[in-house]
Amino acid sequence: MAEAASAVAKAVEYRRHIHKHPELSFKEVETCAYVAGMLEENGIEYRKIAGTGVLARIEGRGDLKSAVVLRADMDALPVHEATGYDFASCNDGVMHACGHDMHTAALLAAMTVINRYRDCIEGTLFGLFQPGEEINPGGASLVLKEHPFDGYDVRAVIGEHVDPDLPTGTFGFREGKYMASSDEIRITVNGEGGHAALPHRLKDPVVAAAAIITALQQVVSRNTNPDVPTVVSIGRVVADGSTNVIPDSVFMAGTLRTFDEDWRAKSKERICRIVESVADAYGVSAHVDISKGFPSVVNDPELTSKVVSLMSGMFGSDSVVPLAIRPTAEDFGFYTQLYPAVFYRFGVGGRLGDRNVGRLHTSLFDPDEEALEFAVTGLLNLAFNL
Ligand code: NI
Repeated sequence: MAEAASAVAKAVEYRRHIHKHPELSFKEVETCAYVAGMLEENGIEYRKIAGTGVLARIEGRGDLKSAVVLRADMDALPVHEATGYDFASCNDGVMHACGHDMHTAALLAAMTVINRYRDCIEGTLFGLFQPGEEINPGGASLVLKEHPFDGYDVRAVIGEHVDPDLPTGTFGFREGKYMASSDEIRITVNGEGGHAALPHRLKDPVVAAAAIITALQQVVSRNTNPDVPTVVSIGRVVADGSTNVIPDSVFMAGTLRTFDEDWRAKSKERICRIVESVADAYGVSAHVDISKGFPSVVNDPELTSKVVSLMSGMFGSDSVVPLAIRPTAEDFGFYTQLYPAVFYRFGVGGRLGDRNVGRLHTSLFDPDEEALEFAVTGLLNLAFNL
């Protein structure tokens, strides 16, 4: 289809504009206006959603209550860009270092084609340009709070994400559990500080904190079913004493990742109990706060195999590769809890997969722009055939 080729060219143009004007999570004001402007220019109906998001709607043929949702995230990261692009970020200290510029551009370009061939799609197609994927509570949770799909029979929610480890032209899939739930742990250990030479007169929160960190690893090694990958990591420990001063309190922060909602709830109870009991044993007190983050991404098996066969039908069976389970998180998990949904990856690692494109979330991340061809035509394939 000739339109597909011109849509790919458009996607490159959109991507460069969005890349040059990155915005942090829930502050995607300009990006939102840009997307809305392009939809308007193409005569596509839309409304604002979740603050700085955009929900576009295209009605096709048949039962308009039957819907497919294509979702792209729009936010950038607090990273200082060092790619040297001539379309590099003009917002200092903010960069599209996770490829969300590619996702937004691909969906926007696909929507313009879908709109021209609206008679060829079954039911209603939503293009969801979502804000705030990178931080809690996740733009997806705010989108769903507005119940935009109530009254619709949603037959698929589709999300795609760049993957620097896959060659350009390939798509990565995993049915069932794919990405972890993610919760933030914050612990304050309160003791009684003083002269470090006289610890017998104090209630040392530092030694207690050390014991707590070690004991927490037993949630993973002793309490977790080996079938359910789980990670507890404490990445921040602040004990602001000195060589000869024991502080009054210690602050710690970390993350809990797992793949099962029941275990997610139980492991939180376990963490609280361990922290409080160990603190008690050391004669100090502790306060635990575990903020609710994203649920795990669980890809619907039936829908996944349908999407896989559509992609291998269009791009060849070599273009589809299996993905390993991944303990990073995505707010797309909120959609997978409610609707049949598939989150897949598209390769941006160069045609031979050997291009040095840098890692996600780094200042040198440089995804292969040629991958937009596959991101756009992949979405068109799903829009017209799901
Ligand atoms: Ni991302």
